[in-house]
Amino acid sequence: MSYTVNAARLAQVYGSSLQIKTRDGSDATIRIPTQPSGWPRRGTEAYGLKTELEVVRPHGPERIPAFLKLFMTEVKERETRTRLLIAMELARRSHFFHGIPFGWLGNFTINGVALIAHFTRMIHGPYDGGPEDFGRLRSNGRWKTIDADHRRRFGAELAAAVAGLERAGIVHGDISPGNTLIGQNSGKDICILCDYDGYFSKRVPRLPRKDGRLPCRPLGSPGYQYPDLISAIEADPQNDADIWVQTDRFALGVAICEMMVWSDGVEQILATAGRGELLPKDLIMSRDVSRLPTAVTDAFPEGFKLLEKAMRAGSPAAMPSPEDWLRVLGFDEAAEYKGRPLITLFRRRGNGRMRHGAFRLSNPSGDLGRADSQLAGIKFQFDAQKLELEFAPAAPVRRRREGKLADIAAGGGAVSANPGDIYYVGDWGFEVADHTAAQAPPPP
Ligand SMILES: Nc1ncnc2c1ncn2[C@@H]1O[C@H](COP(=O)(O)OP(=O)(O)OP(=O)(O)O)[C@@H](O)[C@H]1O
Ligand SMILES: [Mg+2]
Repeated sequence: MSYTVNAARLAQVYGSSLQIKTRDGSDATIRIPTQPSGWPRRGTEAYGLKTELEVVRPHGPERIPAFLKLFMTEVKERETRTRLLIAMELARRSHFFHGIPFGWLGNFTINGVALIAHFTRMIHGPYDGGPEDFGRLRSNGRWKTIDADHRRRFGAELAAAVAGLERAGIVHGDISPGNTLIGQNSGKDICILCDYDGYFSKRVPRLPRKDGRLPCRPLGSPGYQYPDLISAIEADPQNDADIWVQTDRFALGVAICEMMVWSDGVEQILATAGRGELLPKDLIMSRDVSRLPTAVTDAFPEGFKLLEKAMRAGSPAAMPSPEDWLRVLGFDEAAEYKGRPLITLFRRRGNGRMRHGAFRLSNPSGDLGRADSQLAGIKFQFDAQKLELEFAPAAPVRRRREGKLADIAAGGGAVSANPGDIYYVGDWGFEVADHTAAQAPPPP
């Protein structure tokens, strides 16, 4: 496949817009502005554009910065695969899943060239108005300005994302420096994964290994592939065998180690050794981390020990889990993430709703009175890890769950809350989000 939309032709559509319908039937416009320097992002098979999605809502337009990724139409599997991610509504379940597509744009043309596309949320970021990937940050020297605390948190956020993906039955399949984005969410720095196009799930067909003569299915990136994957690829020079990335656990470990230790010194060592990544293939195959310079491993000894365990594991499931990585980074997933939902509060204002802040439920039980005294009648408790809510008798309460709005009986005991639920009580509304509680919905 070749690029029939080259950059110059693509530039002709800057300033134009596309009219579309959203999944709930609303009218929307995708505006394609002139791209800033460094854009569009060019991948091996796609172009990524900075765009703005404007959705017509009853109370005024909603504007969403969106990363529009354009593909040629040849690979038919893309549609079903992208549609599953969208139907799972992962992108809205967790901040760590903001890199997952939430919209599909089938069959449109740019200058007579048929294209398909999807969009993901474009998180904010300090790098020329947007996020930036770890690969670019380390090659342009900006990674070294990121302190140890931030690095640790970014690593933990990747681990929390992989923990959530495992629960949803999804393998990202290409965790790598180019697919690890640093940006901001609600004013805070955050690390997310992007580029889910090669993901694996039992519920959808895999991408073809090749499209014509070019590789199509991503099989990880150099330095991030686990030993069995390397052997399988090497044993199949014809690209015939059905090989896919069966776990993100190894790549997660490499990403965390690289993010933790990357410095000018490390870069120097790697440059002398003639490579750009921490782990050359033969070192991964030797399953022996002690062959790395001690100047590198001493910067994160527990991490490299865990990475060696991953290299030596007999199967993907035997590799250290995302929770193991969280522990090595000094986080306890149970305490920090899972089962400690984030509540975002809204209040009716005229015809619209105003955001009233967000807080995490970190006690085993209590009420929402700390957010506003009017909410003191709403009690919560955790039954095992599950959040339960109890409302004051006679309070009319409505709940939006998976798009459907329904009355729920108040005063009828505790109701079990799911991530993504929105509750409406009087003038108030609040949304429950859990960073890692993404669950796969039942099969269609
Ligand atoms: N949601 C997003 N917001 C902002 N930037 C993004 C987003 N998704 C991807 N990017 C940027 O665009 C680059 C290319 O996107 P992506 O990785 O999805 O494409 P690709 O075709 O797989 O590229 P490659 O072949 O280099 O992996 C990423 O490395 C990242 O820098
Ligand atoms: Mg990529």
